[in-house]
Amino acid sequence: MSAPVTLLSGDNGSGKSTLIEAIAVAAGFNPEGGTTSFNFATRATESSLGGHLTLVRTPGRKPRTGFFLRAESYYNVATEIERLGVTGSYGGVSPHQRSHGESFLDLVAHRFGPGGLYLLDEPEAALSVQGCLALLLRIADLVADGSQFVIATHSPILLACPGATILEIGPGGGIEPVSFDQAEPVVMTRAFLADPARFLGRLT
Ligand SMILES: Nc1ncnc2c1ncn2[C@@H]1O[C@H](COP(=O)(O)OP(=O)(O)OP(=O)(O)O)[C@@H](O)[C@H]1O
Ligand SMILES: [Mg+2]
Repeated sequence: MSAPVTLLSGDNGSGKSTLIEAIAVAAGFNPEGGTTSFNFATRATESSLGGHLTLVRTPGRKPRTGFFLRAESYYNVATEIERLGVTGSYGGVSPHQRSHGESFLDLVAHRFGPGGLYLLDEPEAALSVQGCLALLLRIADLVADGSQFVIATHSPILLACPGATILEIGPGGGIEPVSFDQAEPVVMTRAFLADPARFLGRLT
């Protein structure tokens, strides 16, 4: 994963979160999300894969900062941000007092900075189409400032991230690079939007 932005695609249960969590653990992040200094655990469910991964770093490119964002446990991360009294680094308002999407956009706007390693698991879970486009703009700025992103996503909009490498995990567990036009969420969304009735006809 040497590209500035690597997007992990694949069906539900294909292993994206397991992989991104293992990278996070190997990189020293809290398995439940947050920065490398977060050290809370509500329930240890991480796989042991992280202990078997060796991360290869470009010499002289140790991340200056970073964040592991997992949509499913951001509530607990928000509680930790409040407990540590560091809301100032997140836009000044506790994530608990913002909407789900607002709190994500606060995070990327205020806490993310140059030269960072950012591991994001389905950030689109909180975001509107506009929010996804705002995230793409912020990613472009941070990449220009030397940051690296690994993002698990089902979003055709995030898969359009310029210059990104898309790795798709197939049904057999194989990981293949694919183009934007080949990526499954793009193919399926295009087919659905071209003729919703064809898909929905089976429901009635
Ligand atoms: N704590 C766990 N213990 C055992 N198996 C697990 C655990 N968490 C997930 N799995 C299994 O590992 C497989 C991969 O799960 P994973 O969460 O990585 O998928 P995913 O690609 O992120 O899916 P989704 O798109 O639904 O988020 C699934 O079959 C899942 O049931
Ligand atoms: Mg997942």
